[in-house]
Amino acid sequence: MTVDEKIGQLIQLNPKFFADVSVDVTGPWESLGIDEGFLKNIGSVLGSRNAEEMLIIQKKHMAEDKNKIPMLFMKDVIHGYRTIYPIPLALGASFDPDLVCECTQMEVKEASAGGVHVTFAPMVDYARDARWGRVMETCGEDPLLNSIMGAVQVKAIQGDDLRDTDHIAGCVKHLAAYGAAEAGRDYNTVEMSERQLREFYLPAYKACIDAGVTMLMPSFNSLNGVPSIANKWIMKTVLKDEWGFEGVVISDSNAVGELKTHGIAADSKAAAELAFKGGCDIEMMTANYYVGLKELIEEGKIDMAQLDAAVERILNLKESLGLFEDPFRDASPEKETAVCLTDEHRAIARRAAEDSTVLLKNDGTLPFSKDVKKIALIGPFAESKKIMGSWACNGRDDECVSIAEGIRNLLPNAEITVVSGCSAELGSTDTSGFDIAVQAAADADAVILCLGELSIYSGEGNSRVDIGLPGVQNELAKICVAANKNTAAVIFNGRPLTLGELDSICPAILDTFFPGSEGGNAIANLMFGVANPSARVPMSFPRAVGQCPVYYNHPSTGRPKRNDFDNYRFKSRYLDCGNLPLYSFGHGLSYSDFRYESMELDKKQFTADEKITVTVTVRNAGERDGKEVVQLYMHDLVASSVRPVQQLIAFEKVEIAAGETKQIVFEITEPMLRFWDADCNYISEAGEFELFVGYADHPYIQDRFELI
Ligand code: NOJ
Repeated sequence: MTVDEKIGQLIQLNPKFFADVSVDVTGPWESLGIDEGFLKNIGSVLGSRNAEEMLIIQKKHMAEDKNKIPMLFMKDVIHGYRTIYPIPLALGASFDPDLVCECTQMEVKEASAGGVHVTFAPMVDYARDARWGRVMETCGEDPLLNSIMGAVQVKAIQGDDLRDTDHIAGCVKHLAAYGAAEAGRDYNTVEMSERQLREFYLPAYKACIDAGVTMLMPSFNSLNGVPSIANKWIMKTVLKDEWGFEGVVISDSNAVGELKTHGIAADSKAAAELAFKGGCDIEMMTANYYVGLKELIEEGKIDMAQLDAAVERILNLKESLGLFEDPFRDASPEKETAVCLTDEHRAIARRAAEDSTVLLKNDGTLPFSKDVKKIALIGPFAESKKIMGSWACNGRDDECVSIAEGIRNLLPNAEITVVSGCSAELGSTDTSGFDIAVQAAADADAVILCLGELSIYSGEGNSRVDIGLPGVQNELAKICVAANKNTAAVIFNGRPLTLGELDSICPAILDTFFPGSEGGNAIANLMFGVANPSARVPMSFPRAVGQCPVYYNHPSTGRPKRNDFDNYRFKSRYLDCGNLPLYSFGHGLSYSDFRYESMELDKKQFTADEKITVTVTVRNAGERDGKEVVQLYMHDLVASSVRPVQQLIAFEKVEIAAGETKQIVFEITEPMLRFWDADCNYISEAGEFELFVGYADHPYIQDRFELI
C-alpha cells in the first residue's frame, strides 16, 4: 500500500463524500478540502442511513479501490436501530442486565441487516450532574451498575464471533470522565484526582475492555490539562500499558481538529501528530491526518512502523468482521425490512419500557381501574410521538406509540379526552389552554398528566441550568389535581428533573424517561395495572438544581448532616434546602408490597481468602406478582482514605409472586472491599464494615462484618 492508501484507512467521512445521499451528522460541518481522487482510499464511513445507502457506497468504493479493501460502516446505534427501546438512563433504572442484553441483541440484528459494522456503543461515562444532557446516555451514578451494563452490552453487540452477521463490533466511549464536565456544561473541562478517576470514572471503561470491546473513542474534554485524545497518561499508560487494550481507537467527531481550538496544537499538522502519538488510529470527520501525517512521516517524526501498526489494527477489524469475503456482510434492504420492527422486537421494546419506568410516588391512586369510563389525558406529551429520546437512530415518529394511542389500544371502549393544556418548551408562559384542561379533568373519572422536558433538551450539546419541568407545566398540574384528585402524572425526561413541586401536589408519579417506540403501550399497561412497575432511580433526583452534583455515594465529611431536620449551623448543609435528594438512588415503588424479613450473614468475620454469604429474605405481602430490586450496600467504617457514606456492592432483580417469599443470596469477597488509597494503590484494609439492604439513604436491615 502507498502512504496515501495507508493514511486513507485512518480517515472517516460521512456518506455525503461518496454518493449523493442525504444524512444527518453531528458536530460542526465544514468543507474539509480533501482531494476527490483521495476518496477511494478512505477506510470508513460515519452514519450511513440504511442498507441501501451502504450498498451504493460500498459497491462504488470496491469498484474504485485497486486494493479492494472494503470500507467499515459505523453508526450511533445507541438504544435501538429501527425498533427503539428506552434510553440508556432508563435501562440503568431497570437494574436488569438480562433485559439490556435482550434489547442490545435485537438492535444489533437490525443494525447489521441495515449495513452497520460498528456501533458507537456502549457509552459508559459515569455521571453525577443532572445538568449534563448526556446523562440520558449513561446508566447513572453508580460505577458497579455502569460496569455491569457496559460489559453486558459489549457481549450482546459482539457475540462470540464478529463474523456472525447477527452481531457487529462495539466501540466503548468516551475515555475518560466526559461525564464530569464542569458545571454539567457539555464539552467542558475536567480536572480530577487520579484517585477519584480510578474509583468512580474508569471502572466501566475497563469492564468493557475486559469484556472484549473492539474499539474505543476518547472524550472531547481536556483531562487535567490535556484533551483526552492527546493525553498520553490516559491513552497510553492506562489504556494500553495497564489495561492492555489492543483494539482500534477512533477520535470523536472533529476532536482531532479541536486540539487547535483547545489551544494545544498550532495547526493541523501539530494536531495530527499529537492525536496519532496519543494512539488515535482513525480521525473522524476532520482532515488533519490528511493534511499532516504524510509530512510527519517524511520528516521522521512518525515512524512508518507506527503507521503500519495502526493500519493493521483497522484491517484486522475488517477481516474479523468478514468484510474481505463479503464487503456487504449480507445486508440488504429486503433483509433490513424483514428484520426490523417485527412484532417480536416491539414486544421486547414494550417490556423494556415497562421494566424501566420508575414509580416515584403513589398514594394508592395507581393503578387505575380498567373499568373507568372517562379518561382525561392532559399535557404536552399526551399525543406526542417524540418520546423516543435523543439518538433514536432510524426510529420513526410515525412508528412510535403515543400515550393516547396506547390507552386507546388498551381500553377501546373508554371515552378519552386529550388536551395539551400547555407547551413543554423552555420559557413558555402560555396558559391559554388551562381552562379547557381543567374542564376535562373535572369531567373525567381518571386524569393522566403527561408532562416532561422535550427530547431535544437532553443528549449531546443539551445542558440545562434549570432542570425543572419547562414552562407552566407545574401550574397546569396544580389546577388539574385541584379539579380531580384521581390524577397520576407520567414524566418524560432525559435526566433527573427537580420534581419537588409536582411531588407535593400530585398523588402519583411515574417516570418513564424516554421509553422508545412502544412507550405509549407500556405506559397504558403500567397506569392500568396490566404491568407492575419495577424500575429504580439510577441517578439521584435533586430537590433543587443547586444541589448538583448530588449523588448517593459521596465521601464522608467531617461535618456530616444526614438528617434533614438537623439544623445545627456548623454542618455541611444548605440554609435553604436539605442535603438529601428528592428521590435517592435505588428508590422506586411497586404495586406489590415487598417486605424485607431478614438478612443473615453466615459469618461476621472473614479473611481475604474466605467469603461471607449474605442471605436476604423478601416476602411479597401484596396481591400482585412483582419484581423487586434487592440492593446490598456497604460502608467502610475506618480506612486510611475517606470512603463513601454508602456504596452499592451487589444487586439482583427478582420476580416474587404474590404471597411468595424468596431468599436472595449474595457473596462478599475481599476484592469487593478494595479501594484506591491516597497514593493510588488498589487495596483493602482490615476492619469493620457496615452492611445494609434497602436503597440509598434508606437501610431496611443493617448489620456489620469484619475483614481480619
Ligand atoms: C459525537 C458524539 O460525542 C459521539 O458520542 C458520537 O459517537 C459521534 N459524535 C459520532 O456521531
